[in-house]
Amino acid sequence: MAEEQRATAQHRAARREAAPDLREVTKGALLYEGKAKKVYRTNVPGALWIVFKDDATAFNGEKRSVLEGKGALANRISARLFALLTERGIPNHFLRLLSPTEQLVREVAILPLEVVVRNVAAGSLAKRLGLAEGAILPKPVVECYYKNDRLGDPLVNDDHIAVLSLATPQQLAQMRTLALAVNDALMPYLAQRGIRLIDFKLEFGVTAEGELLVADEISPDTCRFWDAASGEKLDKDRFRRDLGGVVEAYAEIWKRIGGDGGW
Ligand SMILES: Nc1ncnc2c1ncn2[C@@H]1O[C@H](COP(=O)(O)OP(=O)(O)OP(=O)(O)O)[C@@H](O)[C@H]1O
Ligand SMILES: [Mg+2]
Repeated sequence: MAEEQRATAQHRAARREAAPDLREVTKGALLYEGKAKKVYRTNVPGALWIVFKDDATAFNGEKRSVLEGKGALANRISARLFALLTERGIPNHFLRLLSPTEQLVREVAILPLEVVVRNVAAGSLAKRLGLAEGAILPKPVVECYYKNDRLGDPLVNDDHIAVLSLATPQQLAQMRTLALAVNDALMPYLAQRGIRLIDFKLEFGVTAEGELLVADEISPDTCRFWDAASGEKLDKDRFRRDLGGVVEAYAEIWKRIGGDGGW
């Protein structure tokens, strides 16, 4: 056992030596352009360069707009919340901020599942189960959706996930545990800042070394945040429902979690 630990430590040290300095990272070829982000390779093996765009989309891309400043806010909010996960020992892809709109992350093979945690009924859950928006759930509800734009990201259960080989039973159990740990980290942190965490969506991926990490982003694009005092929506629902003040709401979240104009 001690021998094994020594070997692992040596292996890690060797990897660190072989890896280029993260401060000297340079942007490589575009790997993927999504609706909200562009993903580039870098000169560092296993590290990707993510650029957050100002594009806003909803309803599977049917509704589109460009909201100036949204990318910079989502990038910095996500960086801050992932740093919190790191502090709490929750394995995740975040490495460091590169600029107001860019961050460096660990490359993973994204599992084709969206894992949603809900504390309060809203969105599709309220609709599907006939619950009033704002109804408090007696315990957090975890749901999985199949990441498939053509099918409109349908809700899937454990059997669907097994039959389609979307994740192994072990990965699924780990994702549930991690998603609830993320909820336990975020809820009190946000509550202290006057923000109610209604629900959020996570993506997970596996590194080349086989490690399961929380990936993608945690921002007002992927969470529902309500002002604790007024109940005002401070997230992407402002865009979905044409409520206006979308970027202003994102800026309010950034301000409350410590944003100070710098990055
Ligand atoms: N650490 C990571 N390693 C590899 N890919 C990642 C990582 N984090 C996020 N991604 C992927 O980057 C892509 C771009 O993100 P974006 O949010 O723009 O995608 P999207 O338009 O929502 O589309 P998708 O349906 O692919 O999620 C997504 O496919 C996302 O899963
Ligand atoms: Mg996305």
